[in-house]
Amino acid sequence: MTQPDLGAALDHYRDLAPRYDRRTRFIDAIRLRAIASLGLKQGEVVLDAGCGTGWAIPHLARAVGSNGRVMAFDPSPEMLSIAATRSAAAPVDLLEASAESVVLPHPADAILFSYTHDLIRSPAALANLFRQVRPGARVAATSTKLYARWLFPANWYLRATHRGYITNFEGFEAPWAVLAEMLEDFRVDTGPFTQHYVATGRVRPAVQVAK
Ligand SMILES: C[S@@+](CC[C@H](N)C(=O)[O-])C[C@H]1O[C@@H](n2cnc3c(N)ncnc32)[C@H](O)[C@@H]1O
Repeated sequence: MTQPDLGAALDHYRDLAPRYDRRTRFIDAIRLRAIASLGLKQGEVVLDAGCGTGWAIPHLARAVGSNGRVMAFDPSPEMLSIAATRSAAAPVDLLEASAESVVLPHPADAILFSYTHDLIRSPAALANLFRQVRPGARVAATSTKLYARWLFPANWYLRATHRGYITNFEGFEAPWAVLAEMLEDFRVDTGPFTQHYVATGRVRPAVQVAK
């Protein structure tokens, strides 16, 4: 499995950061669907992995309330500086770090992966996160995937428009495949005629203790 290129991602997001929220308005609804699928409760600790400009932070904060907590990390300082301007109804820990190396200040009850294809294709990144969560932590991932193979003109378009956002297109037909091995009660909601998916599950105990 070829691995994502963090240096290329940082270059891409350095330039894109000021325009990112406007460029990605069309995914707001599916991001909300992924957040709802986490079934967050007041008082819980939720992690926004690869939070970017922090679009999800106020929504996650509302769901966990002032006695809960949002942790969010991203390796791009330019993206993170926009996340720092969001106001939220819960305490927020913002960390400049990659998923492969981040050290979480609190164990998470739930993790959101919103449009973090590179991150969920990295077993090392997922292993580092999953060993820092509470037992049975819930996970939701949403992003883009290829259409059915015979819709290849649409897939050419997808690859062309996602260059930069994604540094490694390996696994683009089923981006959730690594998660499927690490989660129990795994489900993916998608179809051949859509570029979107929402995958959910709970971290397997064996994955959680693996070093
Ligand atoms: C398409 S943006 C998604 C941002 C946000 N989650 C959203 O829904 O808008 C992808 C983000 O993943 C971050 N990223 C890329 N590689 C990463 C890694 N290895 N660990 C953590 N974040 C990473 C990028 O810096 C970027 O901010």
